[in-house]
Amino acid sequence: MSFSTTENTITTLQAAGATCKIHSHGATVISFQSANNKRENLFVSSIAKLDGSKAIRGGIPIVFPIFGPPASKESTMPQHGFCRVNPWKLTGTTEEEKAATATYELLFEDAVKGRGENNIWSKEEAEKNGLDCKLAYQVRLEAQCLTCTLTMSNTGKCAFPAQALLHTYFTIQAPQDTEKTFVEGLDNYTIVDKITKEQGHANKESKIVIVGEVDREYHPPAKNDCLTTNITDSGSKLTIQATAKDNNSNDIPVSCVVWNPGKDKAGATSDLDDNAYEHMMCVEPGILKPVTLEPGQSATFSQTITVNV
Ligand code: BG6
Repeated sequence: MSFSTTENTITTLQAAGATCKIHSHGATVISFQSANNKRENLFVSSIAKLDGSKAIRGGIPIVFPIFGPPASKESTMPQHGFCRVNPWKLTGTTEEEKAATATYELLFEDAVKGRGENNIWSKEEAEKNGLDCKLAYQVRLEAQCLTCTLTMSNTGKCAFPAQALLHTYFTIQAPQDTEKTFVEGLDNYTIVDKITKEQGHANKESKIVIVGEVDREYHPPAKNDCLTTNITDSGSKLTIQATAKDNNSNDIPVSCVVWNPGKDKAGATSDLDDNAYEHMMCVEPGILKPVTLEPGQSATFSQTITVNV
């Protein structure tokens, strides 16, 4: 097993017939093949930049401390925050009979890119207020599943609000085939459609299908301690489970974003092939309602992808 702390390196984990690869840039998982279906479950764009010059287009980029563009117009923090655009340090690997893990760390002082200006994370503001944080990330591989756990710790002198999301790109054989490909399990979630700007409720037992461009947030009903959603794709089935805990081990609600750029947006995205939308779909669990971390507090957010067939 490789163990390295150099920039732009890839760590390979193998366990019980499964394989996964993690790129140190953004601690981005870029490949996951389970023992039971041997196919690549994660989509990475054929023209993704892997040289550290931008976020990796595909795999599982980590989104923190903001999802989407900054809330304030003055802030120049880039969309989805700074985790996915900085190199993370590999701090350890383990190998057991049935599992292998890799752990990564990003100290705030090492997050030199993507903090922008005119926001609490900027160099100037953070130094003035004593804002500091540490991110730890564990990737655990087992025969049929991949578990990614992000721990966010406030190591500074002031509180900060945080969103966190695992922007997971799945390889899909026919995303726009609504008979063969659908997402289930988000019944009764509140939908915010970022394209039509409509809000509403998901119907019970409704299937989420991809028609053209789709960009929707699904927010959980009250007292929903675990997000469980299934992706069916031309006969194969993946289950995604995600939970989040605050400093006192209380559940933090987990939302989910479903995204496919569609033809036009894929064509307009420099690191996506024009036809990439026909091979991928993002199902992205995350803490979208910001959680406030006081000095000394931590929160964890974990996603497990299980390959059923
Ligand atoms: C999704 C957002 O999570 O990420 C979309 O909901 C966005 O609005 C997409 O277009 C891709 O974002 P980016 O910054 O990686 O191009």
